Amino acid sequence: MSESLAGKAAALDAADELAGARKLFALDETVYLDGNSLGALPAHVPARVADVVTRQWGELRIRSWDESGWWTAPERIGDRIAPLVGAGPGQVVVGDSTSVNVFKAVVGAIRLCERTGDPSRTDILVDATTFPTDGYIAESAARMTGKRLVPVAPADLPAALGPNTAVALVNHVDFRTGRLHDLPSLTAAIHEAGALAVWDLCHSAGALPVGLDAHGVDLAVGCTYKYLNGGPGSPAYLYVAERHQAAFDSPLPGWNSHTDPFAMTSAYEAAPGAVRGRVGTPDILSMLALEAALDVWDGVSIDSVRAKSLALTDFFLECVELYVPQGRVTSLTPLEHASRGSQIALRCEQAPAVMEKLIARGVVGDLRRPDVLRFGFTPLYVGFADAERAASVLAEVLAEVLAGIPAA
Ligand SMILES: Cc1ncc(COP(=O)(O)O)c(C=O)c1O
Repeated sequence: MSESLAGKAAALDAADELAGARKLFALDETVYLDGNSLGALPAHVPARVADVVTRQWGELRIRSWDESGWWTAPERIGDRIAPLVGAGPGQVVVGDSTSVNVFKAVVGAIRLCERTGDPSRTDILVDATTFPTDGYIAESAARMTGKRLVPVAPADLPAALGPNTAVALVNHVDFRTGRLHDLPSLTAAIHEAGALAVWDLCHSAGALPVGLDAHGVDLAVGCTYKYLNGGPGSPAYLYVAERHQAAFDSPLPGWNSHTDPFAMTSAYEAAPGAVRGRVGTPDILSMLALEAALDVWDGVSIDSVRAKSLALTDFFLECVELYVPQGRVTSLTPLEHASRGSQIALRCEQAPAVMEKLIARGVVGDLRRPDVLRFGFTPLYVGFADAERAASVLAEVLAEVLAGIPAA
């Protein structure tokens, strides 16, 4: 059995048009299925960071703000990310954490609604299954702006929208289950209700096509340390659709978003374009590590990444089905491609012990307490043989950890 799936994996790897990208990363024999949490290191990044530190900072010192392009890095790198999320130039700016950008986007959207829409709208709808930070920040934004926070499961969002909805904040892919929400139809429904759509792209950018411009998204945020491989704590990004930029009133109008920062005036005047999403001095070391990391996308189409992601997750599920006895694991990730991101989440008993043993045997996924094993599939560096090995080691580990426990 195992030989036939191993053979199938070898054939799939041989036919994989993205297989060559793996050599761009610093990887070893480990099956690394945690790129949905921290992407692997692109092999050329250390030398680029060393140059930033030793030459740009060490030799050019303050001249680098101009000569090394430090000052304009947030918008320049935003334009590198833009095509990966289906945005035209001038709409994405990099900086701060995702959490901070959620704050800018949600408060910014409420202010847009008040300025250009219907100021009497009272409600912020938030994805009830959201990654917690978005919920915490939306709750604070609601308190600050005098709005009401309404948690709603994405499937119930269309029915919950109404004349009181000002803004809806939704995760594109659920961090726990890997479920992909329908961005085009939900954005259309939000607009139909006269509200603004804010999307969190942390688990979709770099894994599947997003189409921000094509689907008329209003604002979006995302991190860069998962499928974009920017490194631990690399800066996040904010998308403000061009049509909203003139009225976008950032709740964090730091001096970097001023139209003339070095005029040092006491009166604030927002810069035009995505730059008004900036706040303070950018974290140049992380920012330029991210810029270097984005080189791995040169010549890569996000459609081929999506095709491989679906093929990998299909194949992993096929291997799990064959290797793992019935009733030992349950997939929380939908089978339909239209509802699947780039991870598989398996529920099982004794999940913490199972993940610990998997990691000890070179299959690195992660755990979402109490009982969810997450396996992220990054198409640029994960292959079909990795998927087969992960499923086979999972079967071994489950047999050991759950010995004597009856299957569900
Ligand atoms: C969907 C989602 N949103 C937000 C965050 C938090 O981002 P940050 O720590 O960059 O603020 C994460 C982190 O994993 C996430 O998965």
